[in-house]
Amino acid sequence: MSARRVAFINEKGGTCKTTLAVNVAAYLAEKKKKRVLLVDLDTQGHAGKSLGVDPRGLSKNVFHLLTDAAVTLEQVTLPTATANLSLVPSWKEMAEFPTLAASDPERARLLARRLRPALDHYDFVLFDAPPSLGLTTTNILLAAEEVVVPVATTYLALDGCAEMVATVDDVKATYGHQALRITLVVPTLYRKTQLADEVLAKLRQYFPRRTAEPFALSVTVDEAQSHGKTIWEYAPWSRGATMLQSIAEAVDKAGR
Ligand SMILES: Nc1ncnc2c1ncn2[C@@H]1O[C@H](COP(=O)(O)OP(=O)(O)OP(=O)(O)O)[C@@H](O)[C@H]1O
Ligand SMILES: [Mg+2]
Repeated sequence: MSARRVAFINEKGGTCKTTLAVNVAAYLAEKKKKRVLLVDLDTQGHAGKSLGVDPRGLSKNVFHLLTDAAVTLEQVTLPTATANLSLVPSWKEMAEFPTLAASDPERARLLARRLRPALDHYDFVLFDAPPSLGLTTTNILLAAEEVVVPVATTYLALDGCAEMVATVDDVKATYGHQALRITLVVPTLYRKTQLADEVLAKLRQYFPRRTAEPFALSVTVDEAQSHGKTIWEYAPWSRGATMLQSIAEAVDKAGR
């Protein structure tokens, strides 16, 4: 069986992409006993940091995998404190990737190609995307089949969401990647206000059956990340953990 490939994408910053990618990955690995690879593609290296991995001192990361054919996937894959969860870290060099790859006719498919050996070794490959659209995100969309869009329940969030739908359609058509689809939209940073409820209602209207339960604000979730721990390590009985479990189950179910 080939790995399911799930990308967490929104061009808008701070919509919980990393929080969801990391904790869904850890949930699938620990609670569902799946073999999971989490690939960070963001220059901030937050997926690594959230898992207690300091991406600064590493000699090789996802950038080297993408730009140096001599670098293997094994060389950039690290174990994490969660059993069955491996990480391909990212760091600042990724900012150079679009320029360096610009003249390569296959530049949009580099990630998909370099990850091919992983597809037999893992049940899931999850991608943590940067908050921008560009060559890196196109690479993620061509390496993935399922797209999860975390949308902040705030003003202008719907704009970003419409943009993501257009981007996915565009990549699907341009590259003939028929399997690509938005499987789930996750309303995030939710507080019970009139505006948030209006945004939530609109999301449910645009994405019937594909809108997850809202991921409410929770200090524990923020704290876990600041300690470099998953919610399952830091506060498995918290409300944050309950919400993240329900989202992880929804991600799992939505793509099947
Ligand atoms: N449910 C929550 N309650 C409170 N804070 C949260 C929650 N989820 C995430 N956060 C915090 O919000 C911030 C942004 O989250 P996160 O890093 O996951 O977003 P992102 O979309 O990956 O951001 P970027 O676009 O910069 O990559 C982080 O500090 C995180 O700890
Ligand atoms: Mg992030």
